[in-house]
Amino acid sequence: MLRELSRRATRSGSQGKRPIYPNASEDREGRSTTVRIVVGAQFGDEAKGKITDYLAAGARYVVRTGGGPNAGHSIHLPEGSLVLHQLACGVLRHGVVGVSGPGMVIQPMKLEAEMQDLERRGLLRGQVVLSDRAHVLLPVHEIEDAWEDDLRAKVNPGAGLGTTRQGIGPAYADRSGRFGIRLGDLAHRARLRESLELLYATKTHLSNLPSLDGLAAELAEVGSRLAPLIRPTEPMLWEAIARRETILLEGAQSALLDVDFGMYPYVTSSHPTSAGALVGSGIPPTEVDEVIGVAKAYSTRVGAGPFPTEDSGERGEYLRRVGGERGATTGRPRRCGWLDLVLLRYAARLNGFTSFAITKVDVLGGLEEIPVCTQYVLADGSTVRDVLPSQADDLVHAQPVYEYLPGWPMFHQRLKDRIKSEGAMALPLTLRRFFDRILEETRVPVQYVGYGAERDETVALPPPFEHARRPALTPWTG
Ligand code: IMO
Ligand code: MG
Repeated sequence: MLRELSRRATRSGSQGKRPIYPNASEDREGRSTTVRIVVGAQFGDEAKGKITDYLAAGARYVVRTGGGPNAGHSIHLPEGSLVLHQLACGVLRHGVVGVSGPGMVIQPMKLEAEMQDLERRGLLRGQVVLSDRAHVLLPVHEIEDAWEDDLRAKVNPGAGLGTTRQGIGPAYADRSGRFGIRLGDLAHRARLRESLELLYATKTHLSNLPSLDGLAAELAEVGSRLAPLIRPTEPMLWEAIARRETILLEGAQSALLDVDFGMYPYVTSSHPTSAGALVGSGIPPTEVDEVIGVAKAYSTRVGAGPFPTEDSGERGEYLRRVGGERGATTGRPRRCGWLDLVLLRYAARLNGFTSFAITKVDVLGGLEEIPVCTQYVLADGSTVRDVLPSQADDLVHAQPVYEYLPGWPMFHQRLKDRIKSEGAMALPLTLRRFFDRILEETRVPVQYVGYGAERDETVALPPPFEHARRPALTPWTG
């Protein structure tokens, strides 16, 4: 759609498109893809890490654009499994730069531990770069996060959000309140000390805070060790665009957890949407080529909040067991349920998805029929197909309406081997029918399929997804 818009602008002689570097977009028509955004299309944990890692093979930069240690991106390499929390998954590949970008809130001690762990295992192969504009998430924020969630539950029993307790909400609140400390500040000891004093002065409601002196010293030390990695990242990315290098923006969390467009207040405190990826990287919207929505073939959610297709019975338990659905950050069992096309349509419109990556299709292998939710009926009898009510409470008792699609066989090794040698044409026909339904219902084609946890268990579907690409904002018929 952006290409089409820029073409129109050129034809009409409009000045609408002004690239930051004039040569960056001179001949967009002929150039290959450079900027792709990977966005979670459900409630998080859609295997964004796996898909980003797969796409990172052809990228020069992979940029995390929001969130912090609340993210858990599991990657399964032949050498072993790992979970990335604050590093972009590009750091696992030679020749790729993994950027922890300006939109993040970074716990520097935990980040250092994450790097050391990868280094010890010989897996830190790419280059790590940290944005000087990223905010520092402090132990104070972790204490405040727990205090806030306990407070909610105390004032109104059952109202806790079930955050990851990593300090995300308080760190973003201090960023917006302009009390925050940024990675670039760590190098200035006197200023850092002053900023910490001011920050501590806003936290008199908390007890058992670490000593200010001790924290100031610890931050200065970790800051000096990380200093060689901290730099302005946006000019680096603008120059990469000018050289037409491929950049992947790796979303954490998901569209349905967006602080404005998710099910508020059962959300995270950042903008895990395609728009948020731009704010969180400094890349302008006119440079984006593709927006890939990642969704599991079913749904999961951790933490509190409405989940219309949740299956709290035996079948939900089956999904949890076969899908290994346990939080990668907190270890909490994930709530499980069925694919929700209402949420996918909403996410597609909100993010302008150009394609989907559908993951964990193997988990549903062997089921006779696959429920997919096409709409909800609300308590007042109204139906919801693609526009979510702004009041999360309205969704608590939403009744999902299911369509039952024929299932596909188990993904035994023989089938996996066939897919590896023959490509997507070896995918079971009923699974391809499932993808057709997703296209029909969301107008977004499926381009990538994850059929197992391992790195090589992702396959790209051949075109015509390219021809099916449509602007997400065309009027909806039903
Ligand atoms: P990845 O990147 C799933 C959820 C929490 C809680 C809510 C708010 O692995 O997909 P927060 O700690 O962010 O203030 O918690 O958001 N949440 C996630 N759920 N995957 C994630 O990240 C999540 N990050 C936050 O469970 O409900
Ligand atoms: Mg996760």
